[in-house]
Amino acid sequence: MMEEARVLPFPVPDLPGPGSAAVLCGLGTWLPSRVVTNADIASRLDTSEEWIRGRTGIRERRVVDSGVSTSDLAVEAGQRALKSANLEQVDAVVLATTTPDRPCPATAPDVAYRIGLARATAFDVNAVCTGFLYGLAAGAGLIATGIAERVLVIGADTFSTIVDPDNRTTAAIFGDGAGAVVLRAGTPHELGALGPFDLGSDGQDADLIMVPAGGSRQRSTHEPAEPGTEYFTMAGKAVFRKAIFQMSASAQSVLRKAGLRLRDVDRFVLHQANVRIINGIADMLGQPVGKFVKNIDQVGNTAAASVPLAMASGCENGELRPGQRVLLGAFGGGLTWGATVLRWPDIEAM
Ligand code: COA
Repeated sequence: MMEEARVLPFPVPDLPGPGSAAVLCGLGTWLPSRVVTNADIASRLDTSEEWIRGRTGIRERRVVDSGVSTSDLAVEAGQRALKSANLEQVDAVVLATTTPDRPCPATAPDVAYRIGLARATAFDVNAVCTGFLYGLAAGAGLIATGIAERVLVIGADTFSTIVDPDNRTTAAIFGDGAGAVVLRAGTPHELGALGPFDLGSDGQDADLIMVPAGGSRQRSTHEPAEPGTEYFTMAGKAVFRKAIFQMSASAQSVLRKAGLRLRDVDRFVLHQANVRIINGIADMLGQPVGKFVKNIDQVGNTAAASVPLAMASGCENGELRPGQRVLLGAFGGGLTWGATVLRWPDIEAM
């Protein structure tokens, strides 16, 4: 005998079917108020204002105060993105971060709850500086499969909590921040529709960017971590070269998938790791450097927050205008990389 259909205890939302495009319809950011200038860093480490600005393009970065965590920044950015999208609810929250509040559980459910999105699907994505691109792809996938109709994608990091404050290179490069977008189900020809995506990884180079201790590899030894191994490390020179090569290759690959040429792109919004990396990519792609949005001078490398913070900066200063063809791209630890394209929507960054 057939079982009677079970009645669900709450109404099933009327979601669109599979195949919808993910349309970017809101953008919000949040930065801690504490500014750390190059002069501040030079006053306590063996470096200079000129070296940091000249070799990285960074003038200042924001750093959280004691007790402030990644979720605090993510909640603020997420709320602003929802306001920008004129929405109060979403079906899913994807948080890209390498600096979660705690190793367990994921930070996204806490962020969703505090924004008033209790019951939403919520999970973290760790792809280091590529996290936001991976998060966008995950959000677009939830929409394309009909699992969600609206997704909040947040990139938030507090690298000041994992860099060695006495390391003149990493302490000078990284800053804290958060950026978020709202994606909604729509059609591929709308302004703001994302895609295609180019995503990839190369775990052979996993050691080029890492925090050696704190994970199962070290903890399974049941020995205390070696002093200093809890800090973020990177092979700066190798990463520099690979970032230029791989972000250029990924940009070309996503344009091929989209049937577009480099000259069709009005603006590039790339991960802000080092202004010389961005200039190197412009050079490699044969594109005018003026097409590349840059805000690294004010925020440094904010990891998963980098691309949405640059998007907001471009939006606010008029570099990104509705209808423009925009390429988003990132590269980071893993190694990982990603790129996508969209025509810029008519939105206000908040
Ligand atoms: N102040 C002064 N000197 C510094 C310095 C600082 N803040 N940081 C490094 N140096 C020194 C180095 O120790 C080195 O000295 P040495 O030649 O005596 O060994 C010298 O400057 C040159 O170092 P080098 O690595 O050749 O400099 P660089 O031009 O490659 O710049 C980085 C270094 C880290 C800024 C650059 O490699 C970079 O941006 N890499 C990518 C980093 C990144 O963003 N990673 C995140 C993931 S995408």
